[in-house]
Amino acid sequence: MVVVEQQQENRIVGIKELVDGGLHAVPPLYVRPPHERPSPTSLAHTHPQQYRIPVIDLTALLDASSHHGHSVRTHVIQELGRACEDWGFFQQVVNHGVDLAVIQRLRQAAQKFFSEPAEERMRFHSQSFRSSVGYSTSFNPTLEKVREWRDTLSFNRFPGICDGFEEAPEICKKQVQEYIKGVEALAGRLYKAIFQSLGLDKKYIEKEVPSIPRVLMGINYYPPCPDPSLTLGLSSHSDVSCLTILHPDIVPGLEIKHKGTWVPVFPADPSTFVVNLADQIEILTNGKYKSIEHRVVTNGDKPRMSIACFFGPFEETIVAPLPTLVDESNPPRYKPTKFKDYTQNFASNRLLSDRGTLDFARL
Ligand code: OGA
Ligand code: NI
Repeated sequence: MVVVEQQQENRIVGIKELVDGGLHAVPPLYVRPPHERPSPTSLAHTHPQQYRIPVIDLTALLDASSHHGHSVRTHVIQELGRACEDWGFFQQVVNHGVDLAVIQRLRQAAQKFFSEPAEERMRFHSQSFRSSVGYSTSFNPTLEKVREWRDTLSFNRFPGICDGFEEAPEICKKQVQEYIKGVEALAGRLYKAIFQSLGLDKKYIEKEVPSIPRVLMGINYYPPCPDPSLTLGLSSHSDVSCLTILHPDIVPGLEIKHKGTWVPVFPADPSTFVVNLADQIEILTNGKYKSIEHRVVTNGDKPRMSIACFFGPFEETIVAPLPTLVDESNPPRYKPTKFKDYTQNFASNRLLSDRGTLDFARL
């Protein structure tokens, strides 16, 4: 059988390639242990109306000068703060200033990339988290006991070191570049607003909050799965950077853990972004805002494609709770941690821990 021969040769084979070859059952390498499997009968699935994820309308944040007065802006920032606190910083964002056409152009171009023959895609193969451009499968296929049901095309920008967006495959280069430009502008605005929602003023934010020039984009492709009850597209984790802006696809799959329950995310419409706060924001806010655990379940008949953009500080930045958010009654819960050390620990230890790797920075 093709699958077995390929694994024996030690060639890493992506999940799309396996599915395209014809799969009628989930290969053992992809079967999750029972406690990790999806739970489509939970209350959040049967009564989704009770679990409404906040939708944040950013119109007032985007054009501060216009007819949207100061009070409307203040109101949006308050809403953002509430969404962050109640939902561990998770929002669906509409009216965000990135053209739907830009999103659609990238989705179509990425679709073309994933439709190319496997050999063509594999020209970009790399499982390293530091490659400027990489096409990978699962998280760490050589070490993990169970693989994730996804392949990912990723682009890394380390400011001053490399820019993967400049080296993207020709088939999607222009589209990747216009997309990241728009989403990066949105990330900058949202990031500031998130700290404003904590009552910090602009000057303090400029001086004390690390900027987020480090960018990673991962375009995840989840092929249809013969038995979604056994697999996960992406296992439970929290993101390592500061902020993640995700374009989730209309095909559902993303779930967030809210008060102990896995809640499915249904995008409001095709232009919606999903924003989640990641580990460095939890550290900076001394735990007031939490990075949220999330995962992706698979789908029985439709492929799903998501575009995740992670924004973080310079690698050498030392991240610690902001001085103004700690005092005697609220002592620091995290130690100053270099972002580079944090991400390296994540890359080597994610397989060992469910809850990301925040323990690495915890006091
Ligand atoms: C991720 C992620 C969610 C999705 O790439 O870290 O959580 O819907 N993606 O693909
Ligand atoms: Ni994630």
